[in-house]
Amino acid sequence: MTVAVRSFAKINLGLYIGAARADGYHDLRTVYQTIALHDVIRVSVGRGSGIAILCKDPRVPLDSSNTCYRMVVRVLDELGAKGRVSIEIEKRLPVRGGLGAASSNAVATMVALELALRKRLSGTARLRIAAEVGSDLPLFLVGGTALGVGRGEEVYPLADLPSLPTVVVMPEVGVSTPQAFADWDALTASGAELRSAGRTNASASTRAVAGREQLTRPLASDRLFEVGCALSAWLSGSPNTGAPAKGGSRAGSLLLDLVRTGIENDFERVVFPQYPELRDIKGALERAGSRYASLSGSGSTLYGLFRSPADAAKAASRLRKQGLKAVATRTLTRQQYWKKSLVVVR
Ligand code: C5P
Repeated sequence: MTVAVRSFAKINLGLYIGAARADGYHDLRTVYQTIALHDVIRVSVGRGSGIAILCKDPRVPLDSSNTCYRMVVRVLDELGAKGRVSIEIEKRLPVRGGLGAASSNAVATMVALELALRKRLSGTARLRIAAEVGSDLPLFLVGGTALGVGRGEEVYPLADLPSLPTVVVMPEVGVSTPQAFADWDALTASGAELRSAGRTNASASTRAVAGREQLTRPLASDRLFEVGCALSAWLSGSPNTGAPAKGGSRAGSLLLDLVRTGIENDFERVVFPQYPELRDIKGALERAGSRYASLSGSGSTLYGLFRSPADAAKAASRLRKQGLKAVATRTLTRQQYWKKSLVVVR
C-alpha cells in the first residue's frame, strides 16, 4: 500500500534570535504559520529491509542525511516495526528556502508511515521524535498559527489567524540556516546587535558600550521576553503599540496590528547584506501592495500578506512580469491544515 500525504510549508511571522546556547543552538521566539503551498510525500512499505528515497530534484539528498530517512529509522525503532520503506518526494517547494520544506517532509513521512504500517505512535512520542530530527519539525504536528520557543522545537498552538491571502516569492539562491545563525553571532559579537535593538536612534555612548561589552545572555533573553509580550499583545488583538484598527475585516485589522507591532525577522539583518537582491524583493512585494512583507526563516523565500485574494493574485502576476518566481496562495488554519493533509490512500 502507498500512502500519499501533502507536506505543507510554513512562514515565520516575526523571528527573534537570542544568545547562542551551550549546546550550539540559539533560543528564539517566532510565530509559525502554515500555508497552502506543499510537496507531496508517498510512502510504501514492502517485505525486506532498507530505506529508499526517490526524488527528481537533484538538490535533495537521497541518503541518511535526508530528514525523511532519519525519521523512518526512528519511527520503525519506536514501533518495533520492520520492512523495506520507499519514500517518494514530489518537490514543489524550494530547497533551503526558509519554508521548512525538509522538516515538513519528515513529518509527512511520519504520518504516512504510521498509516502504511497501520500502527500508531503516541502524541508524546511523535513530538519527541520530531524534535530529535530537527528544530522546525514539531510545528508541523500542530499546524495553523503556533508560537515557537526554545530552539524552535517547543511549539504552542495559538488562536488561529484567519486564512490570509499571501504571495510567496522563491528566489533561486538557497541560504544555509547554520551559516545564518553563525553570521548572527558575528553581528551580535560586534555590538551591532545593541545598536539595532535600540534601533536607529541609539546614542553614541550606547553604541560605545555595545561595542565594548558585547551582547550578554541576560540582555538577549530580556529582548526575547519583550518580544514575547509584543507578540502576545498582537495576537490577543490589543497591540501595545496603538489602538486596534477600527472597521474592516478581522483579517485586515490583524494585518494592520501586525505592522504596528513592528514585528521583524532578525535574519533579515544578516541575510539582506549578503544577498541584496532579497531586500529588493521585499521592496517589490511592498510596492505590489502587501500589508506586511518579510523574509521567511533564514530565507531565501520572502512572503507578503494581502488584503484580498484578488490583490494577492494581481501582485503575484506583477512580480512574475519582473522575472520573479511568485505564487499567490493563502495561510492555512489548523483545521484546514489537518483536513487537507491526507490526499490519497491506495
Ligand atoms: O535543528 P536543525 O537541524 O533544524 O538545526 C540546524 C542547525 O541550525 C543547527 O545545527 C544549528 O547550527 C542551527 N540552529 C541554531 N539555533 C536554532 C535552530 C537551529 O543555532 N534555534
